[in-house]
Amino acid sequence: MVSDKPKFFGRRKGRIIRKAKSFLLENFLPRIRVSTDKKLDLKTCFPEAKDGYCLEIGFGDGEHLASLSQKMSQFGFIGVEVYQNGVANLLSLITGLKDGNTSNLENEIHLLADRADNVRVYDDDVRLLFSLLPDAAFDKVYLLFPDPWPKTKHAARRFINHDNLQNLARIIKKGGILQIATDHPVYKTWTLETMRTNKDFIWTAKTSNDWRYPPEDWCETKYQRKAIREGRKPVFFEYRRL
Ligand SMILES: C[S@@+](CC[C@H](N)C(=O)[O-])C[C@H]1O[C@@H](n2cnc3c(N)ncnc32)[C@H](O)[C@@H]1O
Repeated sequence: MVSDKPKFFGRRKGRIIRKAKSFLLENFLPRIRVSTDKKLDLKTCFPEAKDGYCLEIGFGDGEHLASLSQKMSQFGFIGVEVYQNGVANLLSLITGLKDGNTSNLENEIHLLADRADNVRVYDDDVRLLFSLLPDAAFDKVYLLFPDPWPKTKHAARRFINHDNLQNLARIIKKGGILQIATDHPVYKTWTLETMRTNKDFIWTAKTSNDWRYPPEDWCETKYQRKAIREGRKPVFFEYRRL
C-alpha cells in the first residue's frame, strides 16, 4: 500500500546498536510499528486517546516525543524516523530499558508492558506514510530541526517544500498546528519565505518572543542542544492550519 520510494539523502544507520536497544528493535518495535497495509485508522491505533493525535517527523533520538507523549497522555502520538539508532533510542526512552541495567533482557520484558501505550512508530521515510494518513486527523505536527541542506544545489532536498506542505495541509485539522524549529540561518529564511506564500497555513507569531522561545512543555532535542552549544540561536515557528 505504500507509494514508490522517494530518494532519501540522510543516514539510515550509525554506530553499532548495543544489546538492549537491539533487543527493543527486534522485540518491541514490531508491537508499536505503524502497519502500512491499509489506510491508518487512528481510533483503532489509539483506543485510549481522548484528546486527539500528534505526529513528529524526524524525531531523531526521540527525547521530545518521549517526553511529550508522557505529559500529554490523552493524545496518540505517531513518531517517524528513518535513522535506526534514533528509533532504538526512542524505544529505550519509552520503555526505560537501557544498556547497563540489563543482565538478563528476558527478565526486563515486564518493562515493555508497563510503558505508556500512546506512541506508534513508523521507521521509514514519512513521505511513504503520507498517503496512508487520514484527512484532517492531527492536532499538531512537529518538524524539529529538519536537515537544513544549506547549499543552493541541495535546496530540493529540504523537507519544507510544496509537496510535503500539501500533504501536511491535508492531514492537519483546521485550526491544528504545524510546529517547525530550526537553528540554521538558511533554513530560517527558507521556511519563512516558503510559508509566507502558502495559502493553507498562517504564522501565529504576534511578537518576536513568540518565535524566539519554545512553546510551553517543550523538551530540548539533541540538535537543539548542539545548536546552543555551538552558538546558534534556534527559532520556533508555529503555523496554524486555515
Ligand atoms: C537534523 S535531525 C533532527 C533530529 C531531531 N528532530 C532533533 O531535533 O534532535 C533530522 C532528522 O530527520 C530525519 N528525517 C529526515 N527526513 C526524513 C523523512 N523524510 N522521514 C523521516 N525522517 C526524516 C533524519 O533521519 C534525522 O534524524
